Amino acid sequence: MKTRVFSGMQPSGNLHIGNYLGALKNWVRIQHDYECIFCIVDLHAVTLYQHPSELRSKIREIAALYLAAGIDPRVSAVMVQSSVAAHAELAWMLTCVTPVGWLERMTQYKAKAAKQESVGDGILQYPVLMAADILLYQAGIVPVGDDQAQHLELTRDIALRFNSLYGETFVVPSTSLPTVGARIMGLDDPEQKMSKSASGANHAVALLDPPDRIRKTIMRATTDSQPCVQFETAGPGVLNLLSIYQAFSGWDDGQIRQHFEGMRYGDLKKQVAEMVVSQLAPFRERYQQIVGEPGYLDRVLHEGAERVAPIAQETVRLVKERMGLYS
Ligand code: AMP
Ligand code: TRP
Repeated sequence: MKTRVFSGMQPSGNLHIGNYLGALKNWVRIQHDYECIFCIVDLHAVTLYQHPSELRSKIREIAALYLAAGIDPRVSAVMVQSSVAAHAELAWMLTCVTPVGWLERMTQYKAKAAKQESVGDGILQYPVLMAADILLYQAGIVPVGDDQAQHLELTRDIALRFNSLYGETFVVPSTSLPTVGARIMGLDDPEQKMSKSASGANHAVALLDPPDRIRKTIMRATTDSQPCVQFETAGPGVLNLLSIYQAFSGWDDGQIRQHFEGMRYGDLKKQVAEMVVSQLAPFRERYQQIVGEPGYLDRVLHEGAERVAPIAQETVRLVKERMGLYS
């Protein structure tokens, strides 16, 4: 039997090249080698307030972007988290074996909590729900960007703890990070991770940005006070641009170095911009086709949920049996 893969993204904000290079590109690459489930994690999104009608349309937008990026719904299951109730059900059971201290140590929790006056319980529970997503399907591999590595560690800890309390129940998953592009930084501030929720106009390149917008954002990217690329002393802004080029082109370190060493920043930016424009052009086209076909997306999401539901039910049945719950 093929190893199962599970991953997901939140339907909030605009998907950007960090999401693509950190996660989505890998999903597309491995989908034929594993049994894959790609989820739109709407229950995670509502840990912060989302406007209901915006959330409803974001869910569809993200699903369409998965497909536009090359996820084939005849091969992989594409589904929405809240359409399989077992995600929330298993999350409760896992909550009961998770010490609060483990959750309070999560850096994403600390960063989100620091921004709120009153911290919703969902923000603290967020990684338990994520563990439930993964363990529900007994996934062996979880392809994500670097910022999710700590949540994956916690998922393993929860699985191991459950297994030791109640007997072997869950597959303990491993994290799969891309070798280049696991952490794309903000173009306006290369000290900050590129993020869907950041507000700066030149912070990110969104997957559906038109070519002129992409060029503008990249041409305005923060570099440093040197005039041209010097690998020995390059600052974070220049390294970020080089990583973006490398991740899109697939070139190795040697090719990148040979091509860019000594190049003026203006030329570096032009080349990065053209690479990104050409790689994203098919996205917009396929996206329009997908959303333009009446009923198609709903069919894909419905079928995805139907395909994975029996796996989820079997895990919940097993967990209930192990814990002595009534079933
Ligand atoms: P999120 O935007 O939090 O829903 O993240 C969706 C996926 O994109 C996760 O696998 C993240 O690890 C990945 N991701 C988000 N931001 C970045 C980034 N700046 N660089 C690389 N991967 C990222
Ligand atoms: N927390 C992840 C993020 O923000 C999204 C996510 C939810 C996820 N459940 C998951 C990723 C399960 C991988 C596996 O990026």
